Amino acid sequence: MQKSLFHPDATATAFEGLPRRVQGGVCTTQVTVSASVGDNADVFPKILDLHVPKGATIADVTYGKGVFWKRVNVQDYKILRSDIQDGVDCRDLPYWSHSIDCVVLDPPYMEGLYRKSNGHLAGSGSHSAFREHYSNGQATEGGPKWHAAVLDMYFKAGHEAYRILKPGGILIVKCQDEVSANTQRLTHVEIIVEYELLGFYAKDLFVVVRTNAPCITRLKKQVHARKNHSYFLVFVKGSPPHPFRYQTIENGKEVRDVRRLKRP
Ligand SMILES: C[S@@+](CC[C@H](N)C(=O)[O-])C[C@H]1O[C@@H](n2cnc3c(N)ncnc32)[C@H](O)[C@@H]1O
Repeated sequence: MQKSLFHPDATATAFEGLPRRVQGGVCTTQVTVSASVGDNADVFPKILDLHVPKGATIADVTYGKGVFWKRVNVQDYKILRSDIQDGVDCRDLPYWSHSIDCVVLDPPYMEGLYRKSNGHLAGSGSHSAFREHYSNGQATEGGPKWHAAVLDMYFKAGHEAYRILKPGGILIVKCQDEVSANTQRLTHVEIIVEYELLGFYAKDLFVVVRTNAPCITRLKKQVHARKNHSYFLVFVKGSPPHPFRYQTIENGKEVRDVRRLKRP
C-alpha cells in the first residue's frame, strides 16, 4: 500500500509514477491594481472586468448622468438604471428579493449635500454643476444631520442592496472620506464595518486619486490632509472564502470577537 504523501516517513519513492505538478500562469504586468490616478470612468470598467461576469444583471441605483458607464461595453451586461431623479429611492427599490447579480451604489458622499434647506446645500452659485452632479440638487427632508445623514443613506441603501442581491452577488460602492465638524470621518471604514454586520464580505478596495490639484480658498491653518482620493469598495453578499474572526487574549482567555472587549 502506498504511504500517505503527508506521512513523516514519506520518501521520494512515494512520488514515483505520479504526474509532475506544473506551475501555471504567465508573467505579466497587465494586472488590475488597487490604486490609480484618473477618474471613475477609468477605474469602473476594470472593477467590472475583475468582479462581475459578463451577462450579469446590474442595478445602478444612483445612476445620475451615467458617468461610470462611459467606457463600459454596455452590451456585456443587463443594466437596470435608476435614480431618485426618476422617483426611485435606492433605499426602497422596485426589485424582487434575491433577483440581482450586482448593485452599484454612489449616493451623495458629503454631508454638505444633505441639508434641510436648499440655501444651505453645498455647491451654491458657481458650484451648482457640482451640486447637480453629486446630489439630486434637493434638500434632505427629516432624518439625521451632518455626517450621520451620509452614513444613514449608505447604511439603508446597503440594507436594501442586500435584500435584492442573489447570494454571492456583488455590491460596488463609491464613497469618499470627509472631515465633518473638524472631525476626521473615515467613511469607507464606517461603511465596511456596518456592511460586514449586514452579512457582506469586503472583497476588494480601489483608491482613485484625482488628477487635478485641490485648491482651497481662505486657508488659515491646515489641520487635516486635503482629500484628493476616493474609493470603490467591492462587497460580496455572504461569507469570505475562509471566514475569520477578530480575536485576542484578555486575562489569559481568548476573546473571539474584539468588538466584545470590555473598554476601560
Ligand atoms: C454622486 S452622484 C452619482 C453619479 C453617478 N454615479 C454617475 O456616474 O453619474 C449621486 C446621485 O445619487 C442620486 N441620489 C441622491 N439620493 C438618492 C436616493 N435616495 N436614491 C437614489 N438616488 C439618489 C442623485 O440624484 C445623484 O444622481
